[in-house]
Amino acid sequence: MSDPVRFLNAFAHSLGVMTLYAEGHPSREKAVDSAFDELDGLTLPGGHLPAFTFLEDEVVFGRERLRELKSWDWGKRLVAAGIERLELERRVTREEFNSFLEEVLARMMLSTVDTTEVRQMRSLGIRYGAVGLQGRDAIDPALDAAFASLPGVMTTLELTLGEEAETFRWLQTEIKSGGSVPLLEAEAVVRSLSVAMHGDSRMVLPLLKLKEFDQYTTTHSLNVAVLSMGLAESLGCRPKEIRAIGVAGLLHDIGKIRIPLEVLTKPGKLNDEERAIMNSHPIDGARVIMQSDQDLGMAATVAYEHHIMLDGGGYPVIHYRRECAMASRLVHVCDVYDALSTKRPYRDAWPAERTMAYLEERAGTEFDPELVATFIRTLKQGQARVRVLSDEPQPT
Ligand SMILES: [Fe+2]
Ligand SMILES: [Fe+2]
Repeated sequence: MSDPVRFLNAFAHSLGVMTLYAEGHPSREKAVDSAFDELDGLTLPGGHLPAFTFLEDEVVFGRERLRELKSWDWGKRLVAAGIERLELERRVTREEFNSFLEEVLARMMLSTVDTTEVRQMRSLGIRYGAVGLQGRDAIDPALDAAFASLPGVMTTLELTLGEEAETFRWLQTEIKSGGSVPLLEAEAVVRSLSVAMHGDSRMVLPLLKLKEFDQYTTTHSLNVAVLSMGLAESLGCRPKEIRAIGVAGLLHDIGKIRIPLEVLTKPGKLNDEERAIMNSHPIDGARVIMQSDQDLGMAATVAYEHHIMLDGGGYPVIHYRRECAMASRLVHVCDVYDALSTKRPYRDAWPAERTMAYLEERAGTEFDPELVATFIRTLKQGQARVRVLSDEPQPT
């Protein structure tokens, strides 16, 4: 059993024992002692202090999913009590840890927890609570115009997407230098995007605004992952499917890593040769992904199909007409939405209204009409709010 798993088991065990025995009872003290000892010995890679993120069905230690905790149901209970994240600010004493446990227990015993409010709780040296987003409400005038009318509650701001952007940049260099797709890191980025989307009572779509043209693929990939997960959630997909679609969204343009920057950021029209290079990215991407991991079948399909239109147009050219996978049709909608909403060297960003009208116009020929309808409903009716974040590293 790994160290973080031993700690979590001891942590859950002491919460259970604390409901049975009063302070000072030997069983209780023993349980707290052993949880404290486990915590005290715990560090993240690089010597960082431990941090846990709890999702309904998963626990993440630092950036790594704890696969051994599949049947541990305390994550769900902690989330229900408004505790999605737990991190140490410094080494804590046994006494501080004990009062932290008491606070957690008290929160878990409350019959109703107001999860609409984002709280950051602090027991000396330990921060825990729900997750919020750092950032501004849509600062893009295009987004502002479309979303200003939506009622919104400001959340306590905590996260940026700096680390996620950095991880994705690293992932691209890994693949570029001949490595395979680092699945764990891709999943970690998607999981933390998913946490960022749910720190509030209503789904939030944290989107990045492009600052440098050469960062387009990173910003765009993270945005497509977020939008795809948002759409999948609106369609009622299960959390596991949503995250698989998130990974597929994140990797859809991975075939672009070897395209020269001059072609990617060329302001004018591409010549035939450049167009051919550009249009080869779905096939290259699918190949890179397929060579990497068997678990990435859906991502490979999406990379291959995301420029194929509903009526068979687009690229790569398919010789036998067939329907593309649902995930590909879904990513296709989100891909075009983000591409048009972003300023490119050859055109300005389109306002959100214009982009939505474009999707609606082409629903039935280029896009799956049901997906377009759900996507636009999600954005327009405020089932999700858009938040524009910076990709600066998170302040510590
Ligand atoms: Fe693409
Ligand atoms: Fe794309």
